[in-house]
Amino acid sequence: MTQMTGSPAQPAPQNSEKRIVLAFGTRPEATKMAPVYAALSRQPGLTPLILSTGQQRQMLDEALAVFGLTPDEDLNVMTDRQTLADLTGRIVPQAGRKLREMGADMVLVHGDTTTSFCVTLSAFYEGIPVGHVEAGLRSGNMREPFPEEANRRLTGVLSGLDFAPTPGSRANLLREGKDPGGVFVTGQTAVDAVREVAGRVPLRPEWRERLDAGGRLVTVTMHRRENLPVMAEMARALADVAYAYPDCHFVYPVHLNPAVQEAVRPALGDLPNFELTDPLDYANMAPLMAASALLVTDSGGLQEEGAALGVPVAVLRNVTERPEGLEAGVLRLAGNDPGTIREVIGGLLGDEAELSRMRAARNPYGDGQASGRIAQAVAWHFGLAEKPADWQ
Ligand code: UD1
Repeated sequence: MTQMTGSPAQPAPQNSEKRIVLAFGTRPEATKMAPVYAALSRQPGLTPLILSTGQQRQMLDEALAVFGLTPDEDLNVMTDRQTLADLTGRIVPQAGRKLREMGADMVLVHGDTTTSFCVTLSAFYEGIPVGHVEAGLRSGNMREPFPEEANRRLTGVLSGLDFAPTPGSRANLLREGKDPGGVFVTGQTAVDAVREVAGRVPLRPEWRERLDAGGRLVTVTMHRRENLPVMAEMARALADVAYAYPDCHFVYPVHLNPAVQEAVRPALGDLPNFELTDPLDYANMAPLMAASALLVTDSGGLQEEGAALGVPVAVLRNVTERPEGLEAGVLRLAGNDPGTIREVIGGLLGDEAELSRMRAARNPYGDGQASGRIAQAVAWHFGLAEKPADWQ
């Protein structure tokens, strides 16, 4: 161990191979950490290992399989309808013990999940340094997204190295008093992931046929906790939009959370142009997104993936922690109120000129090389690589 969690990053003298544990538990973390794992494997002196909390079971396993990854250790904590407190109570005591057994010299966590915060807290108690990938995103509202805004802030209090996807996210961290020497602007690893995977698998033939017949595809995802109380109404608003645009075929891979399934299936299950599917693995999701006229989502990752693929995104939230996409013009907030949803999404699907302007927006989330920069920063931290001159 070279440094206590939370202290500023200082290069340490080079010694033996360093064990870098990537800890995650949900589908989006796996997708965005897979390219980081690959980059760490290529970096001399570093050995990456994966600790899964298993916060999600089937969805995590499917995400890892796309990248040919298997966890080295798995805490397997998921239970049906788990509460946030249940998860916290299971992950915190187990993660630290496991990190110690794995001989972790550093742990890398991602973003804003309960897994990220709990593993960070546990590593802090063990004195293991934490690197935070996708650090510094802020919506400015603790209730939205809930509990993610709190998770990423709490993680940032304890992390020693922070990998901010954009200059704006770095500025958020410096405003909160973080040591500038440990905060690196890397780009978003979602861009690395989507570029690697899009094009690997062709668009499913049934969707290709619709495009060939002159139809449009719209990808929908909706699962956020803070939207659950109004999700049935949101789904009915989406049904109204689908009635208004019979040329659009909506594809909604429904999250496995039973609360989400119960909210959306009654409103959307019987519409001819609304396809409710099981969750899609990333190899099938990436070409679907790339072929879509619009993404409609309350997720975080799809906002970046849309920007990276040049596909407009209507965001089913009132605020976003990804303001760069709003400024660039590829994102539009549609809120979670049924009236606004009908107006914004209906308006966009009826305005081809506006969709085309959004498609032409610049991608503010990076150049697809974020993971290599993160691996190099980790190596630099251990005195195993130079610090690139262009790091802020
Ligand atoms: C979590 C993350 C959220 C992320 C999302 C991606 C937190 C606080 N939230 O939210 O940021 O966008 O994952 O999916 O960490 N389930 C299954 N099988 C699975 C996965 C989930 O059955 O493979 C069911 C379980 O009943 C589980 C429920 O879904 O209890 C909720 O999953 P959980 O990971 O607790 O929360 P999410 O709302 O998915």
